[in-house]
Amino acid sequence: MTRVALVTGAARGIGAAIARRLASDGNAVAVLDLDAAACADTVDAITAAGGQAIAVGADVSDSASVEAAVAEVVERLGAPTILVNNAGILRDNLLFKMTDDDWDAVLGVHLRGAFLMSRAVQKHMVDAGFGRIVNLSSTSALGNRGQANYAAAKAGMQGFTKTLAIELGRYGITANAIAPGFIATDMTRATAERIGMTFDEFLVAAAKEIPVGRAGTPEDIAAAASFFCAEESGFTSGQVLYVAGGPKA
Ligand code: NAI
Repeated sequence: MTRVALVTGAARGIGAAIARRLASDGNAVAVLDLDAAACADTVDAITAAGGQAIAVGADVSDSASVEAAVAEVVERLGAPTILVNNAGILRDNLLFKMTDDDWDAVLGVHLRGAFLMSRAVQKHMVDAGFGRIVNLSSTSALGNRGQANYAAAKAGMQGFTKTLAIELGRYGITANAIAPGFIATDMTRATAERIGMTFDEFLVAAAKEIPVGRAGTPEDIAAAASFFCAEESGFTSGQVLYVAGGPKA
């Protein structure tokens, strides 16, 4: 059966890989990011492979923008019953230098964004008697220097996920979180720049700390998302899966 999946922050990186994977799994995919035009590469990759996708522009931290985006998806693709809350930003700084805006921006996109998107989409899942929600947490939820805002948001994602699992389970809706370790994307490339390393040096340094001996790829995370979103995964809910090349938690 073709379901409609909505993936936020899907113009690039992990979100783009998840969108491509959910499309190859047979779902029609709404590729959502801040700027609809930036979603073209992801949409084109999906359609070139024979899948169905549309680009949707929205700011997940803005309630009106989220409501409009979900209405647009319903109109153009159908009611979404798979939601991946992946959109994210970094505003790293040590606590004593972290501004109010650094805090609010990060909590706003990750936590408020996941809340607004989940609230807007759940009614379609309840109507369908089926839903899959996947939230992107991070190994930073366990604590990470320079990321008080991000770690708080990513730990918050885990409590949010478990609560959705409890509230929505009776409607056939599961909610799970993926906590990636080090994944090679524009986000980690920006971190390398900030600390004055080339991306290659950063990848080599990161791989030394990872039991499987390499950095992760967006496709590694997409594989986990595919499992959580599958029809047959209906008894797996409220879980946090660390996808980090070794044990975490
Ligand atoms: P990225 O920076 O490459 O992509 C994030 C996407 O989210 C961008 O396309 C951006 O435009 C979009 N976005 C940002 N704010 C938005 C908003 N308000 N509304 C809609 N879209 C917005 O990041 P990456 O690496 O692909 O990360 C994806 C998710 O995975 C994030 O939640 C991140 O925190 C998480 N993650 C990433 C890890 C990594 O090592 N790259 C590790 C652990 C978690």
